[in-house]
Amino acid sequence: MITLALSKGRIFDETLPLLKAAGIEVVEDPEQSRKLIIGTSRDDLRLVLVRATDVPTYVQHGGADLGVVGKDTLLEHGGQGLYQPLDLAIARCRMSVAVRTDFDYAQAVKQGSRIRVATKYTQIASDHFADKGVHVDLIKLYGSMELAPLTGLADAIVDLVSSGATLRANQLVEVEKILDISSRLVVNQAALKLKRDAIRPLIEAFESAIPK
Ligand code: PRP
Repeated sequence: MITLALSKGRIFDETLPLLKAAGIEVVEDPEQSRKLIIGTSRDDLRLVLVRATDVPTYVQHGGADLGVVGKDTLLEHGGQGLYQPLDLAIARCRMSVAVRTDFDYAQAVKQGSRIRVATKYTQIASDHFADKGVHVDLIKLYGSMELAPLTGLADAIVDLVSSGATLRANQLVEVEKILDISSRLVVNQAALKLKRDAIRPLIEAFESAIPK
């Protein structure tokens, strides 16, 4: 049995067409059934549904053989024990810095300065500001980061931006793109050796299905 870990939402929805192109149908809609383990049209392949941030952990420790995970989540996790063979080019967005429209970001990030940044992505934010030589006071949040600059909790946020609608709705402006984000296929390194005959063809099937 091969186990593929996915998170509900955009990653699940955009992985389905890749599975389909590989000849794999998913037998249930997780939004309807609330089941956490879902079968597929292949007897030897099942899906497990976990929180996005838990996908690398499941795959690293062998709770799943493979997983689909955003580059953002992967960078925060660190990627230990994970083979990362493919950029699946799905769930694309970007990681950016955003501030209030009346905040002078250029002035705030002059060399040697200090800035307060609220984010769920503390590793990415800390690396980014260290590269720029800017001292950063990081405030870890778990959601609704847009609120932080509006309430005076932070000067800036580091968050995912897709359409930009959430920033606009909260009078924030994107001032710097940190990196482009998409989802990757990750594989447990031991599983790749022990279940090579089953996993290799699956990686190849994913590779052929990647949107060009
Ligand atoms: C992300 C991100 C923003 C929003 C950006 O949240 O945190 O809030 O999407 O998208 P937009 O630019 O198209 O408005 P998501 O909906 O993934 O949920 P989360 O807040 O739980 O991360």
